[in-house]
Amino acid sequence: MNEPRSSGTASLHSLSAADTQAFAERLARDLIPGSVLALHGPLGAGKTCFVQGLAAGLKVTQPVSSPTYTLVNEYEGRLPLYHIDLYRLQSADQALDMGLDEYVDGAGVTAIEWPERADGVLPERTTHIFLAHGKQANERLIRIG
Ligand SMILES: Nc1ncnc2c1ncn2[C@@H]1O[C@H](COP(=O)(O)OP(=O)(O)OP(=O)(O)O)[C@@H](O)[C@H]1O
Ligand SMILES: [Mg+2]
Repeated sequence: MNEPRSSGTASLHSLSAADTQAFAERLARDLIPGSVLALHGPLGAGKTCFVQGLAAGLKVTQPVSSPTYTLVNEYEGRLPLYHIDLYRLQSADQALDMGLDEYVDGAGVTAIEWPERADGVLPERTTHIFLAHGKQANERLIRIG
């Protein structure tokens, strides 16, 4: 695992789902009430995998599955975890309809897949995380900020 750090940004060259989860698990230590993470990246990039790592770091004991159909799954941990997937959203208005504002303003950590669907709705303090496929099947490039 390769994890260079400089001036508040971090990146990871992940070689497995376990790498990605371990990176997210460490990041979870720094999360505070109201933290918002926007997870950018194409289908299969590892966004849900990343949230599974966050959940482990937040001491969530329930299994974390993709909220593609339910839009949001809520978990209890050191902080509440709101896992939101906006893939099926048609417009930013629908993000407000499903209560995105309330989650983001709540006391938990909000992790959002397909955040581009809610352009203009996410707060300034949102941490943007970018996941991309690498050359090898299990290779991913992950960048924060
Ligand atoms: N280095 C890696 N990091 C993360 N996932 C990996 C890695 N290598 C292989 N995988 C696999 O890639 C898949 C990633 O799926 P995941 O559901 O996390 O993607 P996603 O970005 O949430 O996709 P979607 O947009 O469909 O929700 C999993 O099957 C995982 O095991
Ligand atoms: Mg997903």
